[in-house]
Amino acid sequence: MPRSAYTHLQRRRHWLGALAASALAPGLTRGADQPEITLRFSHVVAQETPKGLAASRFKALVEQRSGGRIAVQVFPDGQLYGDRDEMQALQLGAIDLVAPSLSKFGRIGLPEFELFDLPFLFDDLSDVRRITLGPLGQRLFRGLQRQGLVGLGYFDNGFKQMSAKRPLLAPADFAGLRMRVQASWVIAEQMRALGARPVTLAFSETRQALAAGVVDGTENPVSNFWTQAMHQVQSDLSLTNHGYLGYAVVTNQRLWQHLRDADRQLINQALQEALSYANQIADRQNDLALVALRQANTTRIHSLSEPQRAHLRQAVQPVHRALAARIGANWTQALHEAMSQG
Ligand code: SIN
Repeated sequence: MPRSAYTHLQRRRHWLGALAASALAPGLTRGADQPEITLRFSHVVAQETPKGLAASRFKALVEQRSGGRIAVQVFPDGQLYGDRDEMQALQLGAIDLVAPSLSKFGRIGLPEFELFDLPFLFDDLSDVRRITLGPLGQRLFRGLQRQGLVGLGYFDNGFKQMSAKRPLLAPADFAGLRMRVQASWVIAEQMRALGARPVTLAFSETRQALAAGVVDGTENPVSNFWTQAMHQVQSDLSLTNHGYLGYAVVTNQRLWQHLRDADRQLINQALQEALSYANQIADRQNDLALVALRQANTTRIHSLSEPQRAHLRQAVQPVHRALAARIGANWTQALHEAMSQG
């Protein structure tokens, strides 16, 4: 499996170097044989995931349609930046595009994005679209302006499954387990409501922490589970489908405003096509990963009965009420209005 060879220190050095280079002209480079614009797109997952494939599709479309005048460099697997520093690097102009999970916006002062993390909120992806394609999705994006960022689009990975070294089919199964979570208050509360102890870790550190026994289990869609080789260190995967993992592609406001209208339009059009491609293949990537996982035969795969899912759903209901208290009832009311629209 492709694992980042970069240590945190190397990443930091790279970061400082990139910062120095970008301080002169964020996102733009010029030279005789150089593309006029080079966009650096950094993300933390593997190439064969919905996000990795979307980034490659975006690169191909932009470079082809601009005749090479605009180049896109994709840095997968947290090679340049990880969960902790990618947003800051974007704000400083050291990179130009990131696509963090929606769960990672709380840490930059936008906890309302965590409504996507509410367990058992969405029955399927058409429920998700009620938010991402509607006024609530736009309202969430307007909040990014406070951070000097612009949201360009939402897209899916899919539904998350629970893994550990035992089946996780009922709240009692979670008792005492240290479960790795993303930096999301809602996901941490979800784990507490189930009786587990949440441990926040960067994505790039998760597999190693599972292998070393620093944490006992985690949650992720199967494509992330498989491409990080977590099956080598987790004996049981329970198909809970309890929560959604999606992303927002975000850029730096200064860069976005600095672009010529025609370039902005070309980049945006290519991105929207790449995101719609990602949405088409996300389910398939997760299905393919599940097939590969079954073939690898390292991990027992458990399906839940409806009563078992209902029991888990009931256990996490307090998290829904707690989020309303945390981000304000106006957000959760807007959420429920959006969800009730046909
Ligand atoms: C991602 O898909 O970008 C990573 C999700 C995680 O941190 O679990």
